[in-house]
Amino acid sequence: MIVIATPTGQIGHQVLDNVLDSDVPIRVIARNPSRLSPKAHGRVEVVQGSLTDIDVITEAFAGANSVFWLLPPNPNAASFNGHMQEFTRPLCEAITRQNIKRLVYVAGLGHKEATYADSTGRVMDEMIEKTGVSYRVLRMPAFMENLLWQVKSIKHQGMFFYPISGDRKLPTCATRDIAAVAAKLLLDNTWNGQDYFPILGYEDLSYNEMAQIMSEVLQRPIRYQQVSGEAYKATLMQHGSTEASAKWLVNLLVSVDGGLYNTEPRTPESTTPTSFRQWCEEVLKPAVLS
Ligand SMILES: NC(=O)c1ccc[n+]([C@@H]2O[C@H](COP(=O)([O-])OP(=O)(O)OC[C@H]3O[C@@H](n4cnc5c(N)ncnc54)[C@H](OP(=O)(O)O)[C@@H]3O)[C@@H](O)[C@H]2O)c1
Repeated sequence: MIVIATPTGQIGHQVLDNVLDSDVPIRVIARNPSRLSPKAHGRVEVVQGSLTDIDVITEAFAGANSVFWLLPPNPNAASFNGHMQEFTRPLCEAITRQNIKRLVYVAGLGHKEATYADSTGRVMDEMIEKTGVSYRVLRMPAFMENLLWQVKSIKHQGMFFYPISGDRKLPTCATRDIAAVAAKLLLDNTWNGQDYFPILGYEDLSYNEMAQIMSEVLQRPIRYQQVSGEAYKATLMQHGSTEASAKWLVNLLVSVDGGLYNTEPRTPESTTPTSFRQWCEEVLKPAVLS
């Protein structure tokens, strides 16, 4: 039995799509099951409720071998650490209660030996590690999909913005590639132990190089503009982020500008198939044209 938390989310729904054709029993945890993909109805068992509710997770984990989980983002959280604890505590307790064998979860790039953007990520990893569950933490840089948050300014101003140097080459990955790796691990009953799995996308590109590719695909000039951390934080807050959440993200991006995402060496295993150009053709272009 595989359990998938966040089956309606950006990554989770693609993980679910990838395992639906297998013959393994699947259970999902969803607050609102009507948001599940139509293909899932009748194929998966649904436990309805919140990932913060220990009774819900304990019920969902009964008899399961492998679990897919991620910390749902919440830009309205008053404290990032409080938000992380609210979700990670019940996860860990239910892993122990139900003797879960394997966990696949998602986190940012920058593992123990490198620099964490802040202590919250490290504490989350340590809480999970202490349960003794075998896990693979999928560590990834910024998603290509993050650019969809700026689709209006790409469309109307021909510009996108981050507090990161336009020349710093960075890995970036498509969420479809994360989901494919997660699904493969969930369907594989041979791995054990606690380890991380970096997902570095197809290639390292700077934001200036991405702007060039976007210009070619969209057939109009797109320019990248570096902004200050303060200006980026103010924009996030104008769009509804709490100060704590905006500050956390800006700190992360400042660490990225300082090399956080350049510490993991690229290998054939950490290189995933979707190129930025392909993603722009298949995802960004339709979003900009719609
Ligand atoms: N963006 C990046 O560049 C980046 C990079 C590295 C790592 N990450 C990590 O990737 C993760 C984000 O994944 P994503 O993009 O797939 O997230 P997402 O699209 O925002 O999906 C969040 C999911 O969580 C569910 N959810 C939220 N609160 C819940 C609750 N209380 N109980 C049950 N379900 C709940 C949502 O369900 P509903 O349908 O009910 O809302 C949805 O399925 C985060 O952990 C982030 O730190 C992101």
